Amino acid sequence: MDVAFTIRRYQPEVREDPYYETFKFEAEPTDRVLDGLNHIKWHMDGTLALRRSCQHGICGSDAMRINGKNGLACKTLLQDVGAEVTIEPLMGFPVLKDLIVDVDPFFEQFKKVKAYLINDGPEPDRERLQSPEEAARYGDTSKCIMCGACTGSCPSFWPGSGFIGPAAVVQAHRFMFDSRDEGNEERAAALDGRDGVWACRTVFNCTKACPVGIQVTRAIGEVKRALTWDGS
Ligand code: FES
Repeated sequence: MDVAFTIRRYQPEVREDPYYETFKFEAEPTDRVLDGLNHIKWHMDGTLALRRSCQHGICGSDAMRINGKNGLACKTLLQDVGAEVTIEPLMGFPVLKDLIVDVDPFFEQFKKVKAYLINDGPEPDRERLQSPEEAARYGDTSKCIMCGACTGSCPSFWPGSGFIGPAAVVQAHRFMFDSRDEGNEERAAALDGRDGVWACRTVFNCTKACPVGIQVTRAIGEVKRALTWDGS
């Protein structure tokens, strides 16, 4: 099939303003968007800048806007998006070059919500055991690959409002509902403020954008409930 990729370019070393450039080439319907981007980079314009690593939907490095929807280029087939494809960097993230965005502030949010297991109790003789039911409580959010597709789809995040974003809440959820964890009071400082979960307006963009199918909006709702639950 003949395809046309229109890519939002930003090459600050040669031009101040962003612009769109179209590349036309032949591809198979079963090729992925990433195959097309690689073709452009390797055969048409080596200056095209993008991130990709695993190429199998695991590392989360190639999240981008594809025909207006966030997704992973390595998991999106051309037959599903058509012959005319518009590709842009994730919204709400500072663009460094072409499709490469600055993810440092994004990963800083994970530190804020302490997205790791907190348990200062005595060391057990063996590993901290957990039942399958207890593990299932956070099973959905444990699938997160930290690609940023959910955060980049969130209108509350776009204006640079300071909202920590859906991905950080998903990461917090992963540990808040882990039976071995005791860190929820520490996490509340980042989650319960104006820039925490309450900035979420339940738009559901995040759930639609997640390439691994996490029920992101539901997880955010569960975190909101946990922060307000008085046990009665
Ligand atoms: S390149 Fe790793 S998720 Fe796509």
